[in-house]
Amino acid sequence: MEQKRDVIIACDFASAEETLAFLDKFTDVKPFVKIGMELYYAAGPDMVRQIKARGHKIFLDLKLHDIPNTVKKTMAVLSKLDVDMTNLHAAGTKAMMEAALEGLTRPDGTRPLLIAVTQLTSTDEQRMRDELLINATLPETVMHYAENAKDAGLDGVVCSPLEAAIVKERCGKNFITVTPGVRFADSAKDDQRRIMTPAQAKEIGSDYIVVGRPITQAEDPVAAYKRCVEEFV
Ligand code: C5P
Repeated sequence: MEQKRDVIIACDFASAEETLAFLDKFTDVKPFVKIGMELYYAAGPDMVRQIKARGHKIFLDLKLHDIPNTVKKTMAVLSKLDVDMTNLHAAGTKAMMEAALEGLTRPDGTRPLLIAVTQLTSTDEQRMRDELLINATLPETVMHYAENAKDAGLDGVVCSPLEAAIVKERCGKNFITVTPGVRFADSAKDDQRRIMTPAQAKEIGSDYIVVGRPITQAEDPVAAYKRCVEEFV
């Protein structure tokens, strides 16, 4: 469970073929990759095993949220897949997060890093208030959920790069921040709004940046990845 700054490529592809063709481009480096719901539901656990066998670290981004017992048993299955990092929704309560940790821990005491999603960046304050009946502000909710995750023994949270510094302040410098929403100064923003460059993310203390399209859609993905590493690590 060593903690070090790294760039995680979001492999948001819809098939195993596309994903492996993309990873084939990386011959001298084996980047840390994120497998999300789209790819996992399309290609299954075998995709995870294949990517792992090629020597990549894997963040399995499935955002579990269910009753504690179900999450605990599911985490035990994911732990056997030998992923390096996985996640869940902090909204599932501390009891669910504690159960998840228990399930994730292997018989030898090792386990993948476990990271909580606080409030999705697609949820705004008005929806929180009107639909979820949460009256606190968005930043307060994010920080409170981060503290719950810390209390439950989790390793860190996924958050906007803009929130990373304050999460560190509230939860301690060893509490990991995994931050998407990263763009090169000269690249397209796509649908991301609150963005930072890799260098800025480093400055504010992100531990891992998750970068998708600036690498996957680049003319030369390996060069884009290396540029990211140069700026961030
Ligand atoms: O292509 P792009 O760099 O925008 O990809 C970012 C990745 O991070 C995607 O897989 C996206 O689903 C994920 N993500 C995000 N914002 C969040 C949580 C996850 O962009 N708040």
